[in-house]
Amino acid sequence: MSSHTPTTGPAPDSTVQIRHVHAVEILDSRARPTLSVTVTLADGTTARAGVPSGASTGSGEAVELRDHDPARYAGLGVLTAVGNVNGEINDLVQGRAFADLGDLDAALIAADGTANKSRLGANAIVGVSIAAARALASAHGRPMWQDLAPAGVAPRMPVPHFNVVNGGAHAPNSLDFQEFMLAPIGAPSMAEAVRAGAETYTVLKKILHDAGHATGLGDEGGFAPDITRPEDVLTTLVQAIAAAGHTPGRAGIAIALDPAASEFYRDGAYHAAGQTLSSGQMVDWYARLCEDFPIWSIEDGLAEGDWDGWTALTERLGDRIQLVGDDIFVTNPAIITDAVNREVANAALIKVNQIGTVTETLDAMRICREAGYATMVSHRSGETEDTFIADLTVATGAGQLKTGAPARGERIAKYNRLLEIADHHPDLPYGPAPN
Ligand code: PGA
Ligand code: ZN
Repeated sequence: MSSHTPTTGPAPDSTVQIRHVHAVEILDSRARPTLSVTVTLADGTTARAGVPSGASTGSGEAVELRDHDPARYAGLGVLTAVGNVNGEINDLVQGRAFADLGDLDAALIAADGTANKSRLGANAIVGVSIAAARALASAHGRPMWQDLAPAGVAPRMPVPHFNVVNGGAHAPNSLDFQEFMLAPIGAPSMAEAVRAGAETYTVLKKILHDAGHATGLGDEGGFAPDITRPEDVLTTLVQAIAAAGHTPGRAGIAIALDPAASEFYRDGAYHAAGQTLSSGQMVDWYARLCEDFPIWSIEDGLAEGDWDGWTALTERLGDRIQLVGDDIFVTNPAIITDAVNREVANAALIKVNQIGTVTETLDAMRICREAGYATMVSHRSGETEDTFIADLTVATGAGQLKTGAPARGERIAKYNRLLEIADHHPDLPYGPAPN
């Protein structure tokens, strides 16, 4: 049996019996409070999770509970969410047997009782869900990426999407598009993909520096130069890819964008790079950018409420490039189902804390797989050293992971985890999921 086959021997007991859950208020990578949650199973197995947090959030995301106490962390404290884990959630799960992770997640959702997890807090619930998933894998004696693999899905190593230039809500510069990513699609392996990304990142720093730009970093570890026009960033990226000895394009390193357009959509128009554009003009702009640059994927090219615009965008570019819904889909199985029926986008960004449990995340990914939509798993701008998403990506065969630049500890923790999995399992294929 090949080593990437998810099950070996008899199926492990999926029952979840929890002795104790415990949360602590810790910091994320932006100096804001978040939660660390530890789950202890009845057999003594313990596992912890660090909860991520976004900045350019979709309005339909599950609700992150903040204390709103101006005397602490400018109102951003999470002691209420911590209290909910240590009190109500601990009382709920203690001593009870759940059939599996899905059963535990369903109990958490039911106990919260709201449609958006706003009572107990999605940050509290997702921390318990991730820590429980990790504890279960450990109890089963399997790595997370094997334990989480859905039946019938072949795990694979994803194309890392290195966010090397940061703008929008992630950097205090004049760049309106939020993310410019390097996607080494043509690399022969995970290790070569990471090398290609890191080498290009290093060359990019020198090119920006030599051109007189500041090389300070944004929230996700990418450079945050004061460049206004996306075209100028893209020209520089192509230059850096070539100067680092790699091939710009899908045969080597392609480019992925996340303009995060909800952030610059106001009064029915898009305000970017000094222009005021209609939805149709944005689509024209993206079509030109795709002609001129080796762009293979655009996420949130239009705002979350602009479904008509998304339909036009999909009709225009959907057969040429990947169109990823983030703010518009918020990892929500019901919204993704609606989008599939309306033929909006052809891929979904997957963020566990956007929906709030591991089970619902796997459900969103299953809906995408069945509909022929691609999935790209994602970190948040606020992260901890937690590497859960690396395993989730491999387990689900998503084939794509974005988790920032090849710099900053909380970003490289995920890439390094992928390198370790690839080293132990060289038979896992690398690359985007075949469609
Ligand atoms: P966020 O941004 O984590 O700040 O919400 C990430 C994204 O828009 O993809
Ligand atoms: Zn996004």
